Amino acid sequence: MLLLLLLIFKGLFCPGEGIQEPRNSGPLHAAAEEVPVFHFLQSSSFVNNSWAYTQGSGWLGEVQTHGWDKVLDTIRYLRTWSRGNFSTEELKNIQSLFQLYFHGFIREVQAYASQFQFEYPFELQISAGCSMHVGKPSESFLNGAYQGTDFLSFQGNSWLPSPGAGSQAQKVCRVLNKYLDIKEIVQNLLSDTCPRFLASLLKAGKAELERQVKPEVWVSKGPTPGPGRLTLVCHLAGFHPKPVWVMWMRGKQEQHGTRRGDVLPNADETWYLQVTLDVATGEAAGLSCQVKHSSLGGHDIIIYWEGSSMFQRVTCLTAIVTAIALTALAFSFQRLRSSWNVLAPNMQESVTGANTQEPRSPGYQFCSAWDWWAKNRFLKKWKAILNRF
Ligand SMILES: *[C@@H]1O[C@H](CO)[C@@H](O)[C@H](O)[C@H]1NC(C)=O
Ligand SMILES: *[C@@H]1O[C@H](CO)[C@@H](O)[C@H](O)[C@H]1NC(C)=O
Repeated sequence: MLLLLLLIFKGLFCPGEGIQEPRNSGPLHAAAEEVPVFHFLQSSSFVNNSWAYTQGSGWLGEVQTHGWDKVLDTIRYLRTWSRGNFSTEELKNIQSLFQLYFHGFIREVQAYASQFQFEYPFELQISAGCSMHVGKPSESFLNGAYQGTDFLSFQGNSWLPSPGAGSQAQKVCRVLNKYLDIKEIVQNLLSDTCPRFLASLLKAGKAELERQVKPEVWVSKGPTPGPGRLTLVCHLAGFHPKPVWVMWMRGKQEQHGTRRGDVLPNADETWYLQVTLDVATGEAAGLSCQVKHSSLGGHDIIIYWEGSSMFQRVTCLTAIVTAIALTALAFSFQRLRSSWNVLAPNMQESVTGANTQEPRSPGYQFCSAWDWWAKNRFLKKWKAILNRF
């Protein structure tokens, strides 16, 4: 159900999110078009006719600004700027309204549950808020869901059953529409309080909301999709704001097989994203991951695929492990001095064997140099040890 609300919310908040065309709508463009939304989310679980609990929260876009303290029965202000420029008195009035609402809501729903044919246990969710468009009147919304499906909404000045919600929702709306006071309060909150609050939040939280943090970008190899194929993964970590354009490229050509993951939140309120591409092993060379983001001031980040550093580290490690394994082997043979000449060529082959698939890159060269150095060092040592016998 929450997912549903998030989807509705995403539809309102992030139109056209997904793989964006770089030339038509760059990240700066996308950021400018982003519509600010403030919304209130409520989720109420009715376990049985005597037991229910409710959670409420306030969100500016995807930033949680408010919570509801169920113990103290008060609004929790989660940001230094969560009060906007509302006076202490106005905030107190809003808080009192929510106190009445939360208690009344549970009581009324329990009282009407059998008449409305709500079957325990059930879940009700409400998403209500407003958005601002530059040069246009603000838009407000209130949507309710029952058991994870759209149930009703508040349109203009009345409650409307959602298409497909059936006679149950029609019945609920008929009852709700009789309460004129409630309708007036809801309309007032949505069309007056909400837009004023949203505007002042945007002003008060400007520094935090508009901060620019550059993504850290690196590439690595993903799980092998099949024989002879590679998954290239481009990671973007710790960026802000959320809109970003990323594409696997060959020169200037976008690779249409690029798959974009979900933009995931980090604890520090930055974002993380993975973008993958499946290619034939032989075609990976020359591909690059290109990133456009508002924090980069038009200087795109381009990271070339040359075998990921992770892959090289693993290969280096393989070489070391092989060398150590061979050391052990060498020791087991150490009393047989004559075996040295048999062992040495095999060892050389094993150590270099680990590198055969490695694409050429500075990392590769470093790795080979290290291998060479390690090999020689080990060989010299072994030779010295063996010579002592
Ligand atoms: C209602 O549910 C709560 C929590 O599961 C339980 O403790 C309580 O006994 C239930 N009450 C009734 C009347 O079933
Ligand atoms: C609060 O902020 C809004 C929007 O920025 C502004 O229009 C209004 O005048 C401010 N009110 C006060 C009391 O400062």
